Amino acid sequence: MNANPAYSSYDAERVWRDFPILSRQVNGKPLVFLDSAASSQRPASVIAAVDEYEKKHHANVHRGVHQLSQEATNMFEHARERVREFVNAASTREVIFTRGTTESINLVAQSYARPRLQRGDEILLTGLEHHANIVPWQLVAEQTGAVVKVVPINHRGEVDVADFSRLINERTRIVAFAHVSNALGTVLPVREITQLAHARGAVVLVDGAQAVPHQRVDLQALGCDFYAFSAHKMYGPTGIGALIGRESLLGSMPPWQGGGDMILTVSFEKTTFNVLPFKFEAGTPNISGAVGMAAAIDYIDSLGMHAIHEHEQRLLKIATRKLEAVPGLTIIGTAPDKAAVISFTLDGIHPHDLGTILDTEGVAVRTGHHCAMPVMDFFGVPATARASFACYSRESDIDALVAALGKAREVFS
Ligand SMILES: Cc1ncc(COP(=O)(O)O)c(C=O)c1O
Repeated sequence: MNANPAYSSYDAERVWRDFPILSRQVNGKPLVFLDSAASSQRPASVIAAVDEYEKKHHANVHRGVHQLSQEATNMFEHARERVREFVNAASTREVIFTRGTTESINLVAQSYARPRLQRGDEILLTGLEHHANIVPWQLVAEQTGAVVKVVPINHRGEVDVADFSRLINERTRIVAFAHVSNALGTVLPVREITQLAHARGAVVLVDGAQAVPHQRVDLQALGCDFYAFSAHKMYGPTGIGALIGRESLLGSMPPWQGGGDMILTVSFEKTTFNVLPFKFEAGTPNISGAVGMAAAIDYIDSLGMHAIHEHEQRLLKIATRKLEAVPGLTIIGTAPDKAAVISFTLDGIHPHDLGTILDTEGVAVRTGHHCAMPVMDFFGVPATARASFACYSRESDIDALVAALGKAREVFS
């Protein structure tokens, strides 16, 4: 029995049943979905909310006086308020809807960094980053003459705050890092790093793609300047996410795309721009996506983020113990503070072959470099297999994974 009250009320089987796709079969076997870090599945309530919007309320937003347009606008702006509450942003003016984490980071690189950076200025990243938090900075460095610097990782897959302290200097303009590593699961101390960066006058962007599904994020407590995340990793639809930005910074940034909705007036001589957050939302937005994102937040709230976190941490402990007992298996990324993500290799079997054999057993894991090639380089592996857990994961999924790994070892023995 688990004594923790939050956990003891958590019924993983019931949660699992909320996700229609999870009861399908794959290759004649029950699906065991352990690839939620790439994209999580959607509960029936999210699917129904999007369906209801499409069937009953769809029209373009912000522009119409007719009933449907007002309903769609209300639902879209309600979604913005739900996103604000979800991460405790100071105001809905700070909540910009984007296509997701990647677009949010590119927005900051092009609209905040590009006009400000000068030759020799430094952008500080970490060795843990997803390509989405590397390439936009390389592009802007090329455009401005700025330099990308990297805080190294250690053999457990952690970054040392002392290294941040050493590498942040008076030339550092931007410090950008993941809240949680997608490849290894490592959780970074956002508040501490932000304080160090702010003390030297740098602006902080946090890639929250892998944090928001697993733990409560309070942006006013964390204090970072920009925070990016995607709905599809937190039980919502694809093609929608958010950039949360400090209002004073967003207000001073030029628009990043031009078009409808982001303007107040347009003439061929001069265009004036809309207020925040609309200044950064050119064109017709992903309205049904926003509705789905709000429904995903409602769903998370219905389970309780704390209960989800406890459940996943328990699974992480069990999975780590059971996987460590598999002969020839090495876990890559052993930081004490991890989200429920386990990267591993199995002696004598390439991760891609492993992924294929596991799939024949109905077990879906991700194999490859996880869009984090520098992490693979650091550990000297071309790829890993990665099992990632979500609110709907069950202990039996871990047993199915371990059994399928046994089959893979037999095939290759
Ligand atoms: C840590 C991290 N950052 C950024 C991204 C990119 O997210 P998206 O493809 O939704 O823009 C991902 C997706 O895997 C991720 O895990």
